[in-house]
Formats: sequence, structure tokens, C-alpha cells
Amino acid sequence: MKVLVTGGAGYIGSHTTLTLLEAGHEVMVFDNLTNSSVESLRRVGELSGKKIPFYRGDLLDETAIDSVCAEGGIDAVIHFAGLKAVGESVANPLKYYRNNVAGTLNLLGSMERAGIRQLVFSSSATVYGASERVPLSEQTPLDATNPYGRTKEQIEVILSDLCHSDPQWAITALRYFNPAGAHSSGRIGEDPQGVPNNLVPFVAQVAVGRHEKVLIHGSDYPTPDGTGVRDYIHVMDLADGHLAALQHMQDRTGMFRWNLGTGFGSSVLEVIDAFSAAAGKRIAFDYGPRRPGDAAISYSDVSAAQLGLGWAAKRNLAQMCEDHWRWQKSNPTGYN
Ligand code: UD1
Repeated sequence: MKVLVTGGAGYIGSHTTLTLLEAGHEVMVFDNLTNSSVESLRRVGELSGKKIPFYRGDLLDETAIDSVCAEGGIDAVIHFAGLKAVGESVANPLKYYRNNVAGTLNLLGSMERAGIRQLVFSSSATVYGASERVPLSEQTPLDATNPYGRTKEQIEVILSDLCHSDPQWAITALRYFNPAGAHSSGRIGEDPQGVPNNLVPFVAQVAVGRHEKVLIHGSDYPTPDGTGVRDYIHVMDLADGHLAALQHMQDRTGMFRWNLGTGFGSSVLEVIDAFSAAAGKRIAFDYGPRRPGDAAISYSDVSAAQLGLGWAAKRNLAQMCEDHWRWQKSNPTGYN
């Protein structure tokens, strides 16, 4: 298939692009490079031995995405492009609604005009909000607690309306739990701009000496060790999930929603321990107060994706930390 990947130069986008190329698909990437780098694509090209047509553009520029979709021959789109910083979304909600929601509307309009009717959308388990009825299944009511999460929730509603309006569409929303890890080559990985908000990239930067210690947000949660529990999923398992979603849609239409998680929760202390073991060094930490908006426990019910999509995560926390560390130690300042 010929697949257009928006946001394909970013963290999950670059790993998925590699997986698609290795599965024999033709891939073209559309990305505005605000939180990503063309170097990631150069390395994906090197790893796969394939050429990746790259279009630098913004989804808010309707003519730019229109002309890429109009090129012809595109069978499906995987849509990663979007902003993802929770704190920034609270401070600047309009920026998030404009970029994520309006950008997706432009993409859908261009797809419609070009006759492309297959889409995989990068959603997030953040749509479940602070629900603590774990494991979280696809039936858990949506209740995002911040503007970033609400953009994901609103886009899912738009996609569902679109499928209802036109039975030719096949759309899959993939709700990711906590992505971490890197390709086993160590050549591509996560390269957050500024100080990372997420746990694993922060721990990795402590391990490489960019910060002194990890601040654990809360030690009084009702969990076995008092720290927050999350479902960390290897980015290469996520990439495989996108491939499975594309295959699943080949003989179906309508809207599908799947959780991409492992079904297994790890605490902050367990992540720090696993990363320390992978890096062969002690990672210093301190306890601080809870972070507002954080749930105590979040992990996925994986049964629907296993049965319906025929996909399950294969890699564990130890492998995730080893792969993340391999990337971080050989690229201490990311792609720069
Ligand atoms: C966060 C976002 C969520 C987003 C997801 C993936 C919030 C409230 N939620 O989820 O919307 O979809 O990232 O990008 O920001 N932790 C520390 N110290 C740190 C960082 C994190 O103790 O420096 C703890 C957190 O309290 C949590 C766990 O580590 O218990 C994971 O945090 P994080 O990686 O930010 O993911 P989420 O909070 O699950």
C-alpha cells in the first residue's frame, strides 16, 4: 500500500514509518518539523534502505495538504501530527484546538477530495481521564481532563460522525498508553524538546547526566509502593499496532477504537529500577508532591485488541529500558 504518514518525523511516527517500510509498504511523510527532525527520517531511510518522500508542511495550510493528497495513489493515511504537551494545552487551549482539531479537519477535507477513505488516528489513553476503574477498556467512558486530551476526544467524535455520514470510510483510533523505548539499533528514538514532562525520557536524561535526579510526583498513592502506576508500551509494539490496524481495515469499513497497551502496570520506582539496571548505574531520585491531574493507576484491558485486531505487545519493561538507553547513550543530545 501507499501510506501517507502525517507527523512521520516524530517519535512514534518515525518508528511506525520504519515498520511500514519493512513490511513492504510505500511511505510518504508530511511533517512541519515543530517537534521533530528530518534527521530521524534520514536514519529511517538508512535503516530500511528505502527512500521516503518528505513534504515539509503544516496541516493548518490547507493547500499544502491538499496538494500532497491530490498527488494520487495514496491508499491510507496514518495521522500522528499534533501537539501533545498537557501543561502547554492548559495555558494555551486555542493553540491546541486549532492545531489538533482544525488541522485534522483540513486533513479529512483533503482526503475526501482525493478519494482517500482509510485513516489510522493517533489517539491516547488520556481520553479516559482520571478514571481508576482499571483495567481501562475501550468501553470506559471518555472524560479527558485537559485541553490536549479533549482534542483527542473531540477528534474521535468527528471521525465517528464522518464514518456514519459516509459508509466508504474505514477509520481506526488507537489509544496509546505510555510509549517508551526505541528501535533496537539505537539510531532512532525519542528526542523531546526542552525538559521532558514524561517519566521515561526524563529518567533517560538523568542517566546520561543532563539532570541530577528524578522528582517522583507523589509517594502516597494507593499503590503497592505509593508511586503512580502506568502501562508502559514499547514504541516498536505501538508501530506494529499501526500495521495491524491498517491490515484490519482492508476488508472493513466503519469506525474502530483499540487500546494499545500491555495490560501490565509498573510503578515509578519500578521504572527507575529497570532503567538503572539497563544503564548499569544508580539513578538518583527525590520524592515530591503529587502532580495535579495524575491518576494513581492506569493500565489497559488488552482483550479487545487481541481478539479484534489480532495484535498484542511483545516487549517488556526491561527491553524498553535497554532500547531507550541504547538510543540515549549514543545520542545524548538527541538528533542534534
Ligand atoms: C502523561 C499525560 C497524558 C499523555 C501521556 C503520554 C499528564 C497529566 N498526562 O501521562 O495526557 O497522554 O503523558 O504522553 O501529564 N512522573 C514522575 N516524575 C516525572 C514524570 C512523571 O514521578 O518527572 C510520574 C507521573 O506522576 C506518573 C508516571 O510517572 O505516575 C508517568 O508519567 P508520564 O510519563 O508523564 O505519563 P502520564 O502521567 O501517564
